[in-house]
Amino acid sequence: MTPATARAQAALTDLHPPADDILDDALTGLSRTPKRLPSKYFYDAQGSRLFDAITRQPEYYLTRVEQALLDDYLPAIANAIGGGAHVVEYGSGSGHKTWRLLEGLRAPVAYTPVEISRATLLASTGRLADAFPAIQMLPVCADFTRPVPLPVPSRRPQRTLVFFPGSTLGNFTHDEAVGILAAMRQVMGADGRALIGIDLQKDPALIEAAYNDAAGVTAAFTLNLLARLNREIGSDFDLAGFRHHAIYVRERSRIETFLVSQRVQDVQVAGHRFHFDRGEAMLVEYSHKYSDGGFATLAAAAGLAVADARNDPRDWFGLRLLRPA
Ligand code: AVI
Repeated sequence: MTPATARAQAALTDLHPPADDILDDALTGLSRTPKRLPSKYFYDAQGSRLFDAITRQPEYYLTRVEQALLDDYLPAIANAIGGGAHVVEYGSGSGHKTWRLLEGLRAPVAYTPVEISRATLLASTGRLADAFPAIQMLPVCADFTRPVPLPVPSRRPQRTLVFFPGSTLGNFTHDEAVGILAAMRQVMGADGRALIGIDLQKDPALIEAAYNDAAGVTAAFTLNLLARLNREIGSDFDLAGFRHHAIYVRERSRIETFLVSQRVQDVQVAGHRFHFDRGEAMLVEYSHKYSDGGFATLAAAAGLAVADARNDPRDWFGLRLLRPA
């Protein structure tokens, strides 16, 4: 462990979900028709590494386009936010975009990354602590879809900025997304802001290519969910018996990702047996794609208004600065 990672560990608030939650969620999802598993469990250490590799695939435009857009937009964001902010990031992952944000803002006092993967959280907070010694690092290992009590910075912040890039909001249903935005509204307070990245509706062929990369990294990421369940809750999924399948569903403006059973098979999970037919598709992820109007309506349902909006020149990806309505 590097000295920076050790410091990050010392400041850690650990609200990591216990293994029982994973087992309960898996049993509940596998008992449904059609079967499903929650995408939040993709992000163990290996899943986080694979997601990082996805962001470097030529077909996965989201990360590159958002990064360039953020670089262009940062001076305006810094003006809008002012000095001394407490930056709170949901699902912080590797922290690459955070780096640019912390660099671009005016003297932020504290940074609170909320991330479900403890290893990823400690490694990225350690790197950021080395690069930004004047910013207090307050990592929280937690599932941000549940209420998360936030640590209080030792220097009083002027304002809270919630950062939620990457179109991670798209991985939730409409009601869940409203709940997450409403929780952000609570966290940011009356004077706070949220900066949200959203993937926009576009040619479905481009979107489908992003979720079916030629190198098979996304397929490995999806299948890693089964490896994680086998390791953590003792299930006996045969990874060779399932295939990744991601398809854009126009009517619902979203990618739906499935693991498709390649044969008739039974899977045991904690003494329960689940039967799969050949070709049976188990839903493991949604990735919603937004229109400008659709996103503004979603934000309004959570009591938030769009204070500023920027899209990249091709309207592939957008950043939205939100304020309490
Ligand atoms: C994290 N999230 C926004 C990614 C997405 O695009 O939905 C997760 C992902 N799944 C497959 N590829 C990337």
